[in-house]
Amino acid sequence: MTKPFRLAVFLSGSGSNAEKIFFHFKNHPVIEIALVLSNNAEAGGLLRAQKFNLPTRVFLKTQFRESGEVLAWLKEYGVTHIVLAGFLWLIPENLIRAFPGRILNIHPALLPKFGGKGMYGMKVHEAVKQSGERITGITIHEVDTKYDEGKIVFQASCKVLPDDTPLQISARVQQLEHEHYPRVIEEWITEPG
Ligand code: GRF
Repeated sequence: MTKPFRLAVFLSGSGSNAEKIFFHFKNHPVIEIALVLSNNAEAGGLLRAQKFNLPTRVFLKTQFRESGEVLAWLKEYGVTHIVLAGFLWLIPENLIRAFPGRILNIHPALLPKFGGKGMYGMKVHEAVKQSGERITGITIHEVDTKYDEGKIVFQASCKVLPDDTPLQISARVQQLEHEHYPRVIEEWITEPG
């Protein structure tokens, strides 16, 4: 039986967050993962998806931005909501229009600081370290046409200790991501607004 809420997960890299999401929704009563998509055929997240027997698709920039092919797949799989889990490309307007308020992203810092184009991965944690901030964290937000600017749905914070390296900061932030993202997705879908 098809469930009422069908999630597409977009990823570009290792997919550790995606895996937590796959696990969380494995036997969920009303939400299922319909499709996992990546711009990167080598993304570790695709292997993780296959272990969960989830359908996967890899696409080129033209299929994503111009031909409407990715949008057609989302329709074919009956996708109702999209989550980005380490997906690096800007979402084109046709997708935003097709899924208004129904695309969610996670960013590894406390937006509006340390966001925007080019701010991803270790660059974020290096910038946090450089700035001397004593607190960092995660931001889960809806996606609009600009990087990291949509409505904030949830934030959680953690300490930055004086001797932390960017790697140590990233480990602490990743723990927060894994702890919160699946549950926040679930609440965002089932209790919108
Ligand atoms: C996470 O830090 C997430 O906040 C950011 O990309 C990273 C993805 O990591 N958007 P992983 O591929 O889930 O391990």
